[in-house]
Amino acid sequence: MKILVINGPNLNMLGIREPDIYGAQSFTALQEFICSSAEELSIDVTLYQSNHEGAIVDTIQAAYGVYDGIIINPAAYTHTSIAILDALKAVAIPTVEVHLSDINSREEFRKHSYVSLIAKKTICGLGFEGYREALKYFAEKEIKK
Ligand code: DQA
Repeated sequence: MKILVINGPNLNMLGIREPDIYGAQSFTALQEFICSSAEELSIDVTLYQSNHEGAIVDTIQAAYGVYDGIIINPAAYTHTSIAILDALKAVAIPTVEVHLSDINSREEFRKHSYVSLIAKKTICGLGFEGYREALKYFAEKEIKK
């Protein structure tokens, strides 16, 4: 099973960025965590990060016919991007949304997520562990096939 993990803007600043909210571990540590979790679950994972909305849209479009699932943390684009929502709808690849922090217990503007409208599941507030949970969602689906 091939899964594409997309991380949006400023997530490359993990460890430096607001550590009280996002933790002290770096983005490299997150990538290593995702890769080792995927390996444990026998998932073939590809990692992608961009600070640019259009680049994320291009990557979602290019996933069509290639990936069985998408795990996306759209970061700030969660709350603004109809373009990312539409791209996910266009390719119709099963998608799980992940947020490191609990977006429902922060500022009002973080409570709305466009991606949630299409996501099979939204996982938030679990830190790195949320990505493992998302991988497990796909691994369990695969077993039931
Ligand atoms: C985030 C939450 C978003 O509101 C924020 O803009 C981010 C990260 C999270 O992982 O908790 O950049 O998606």
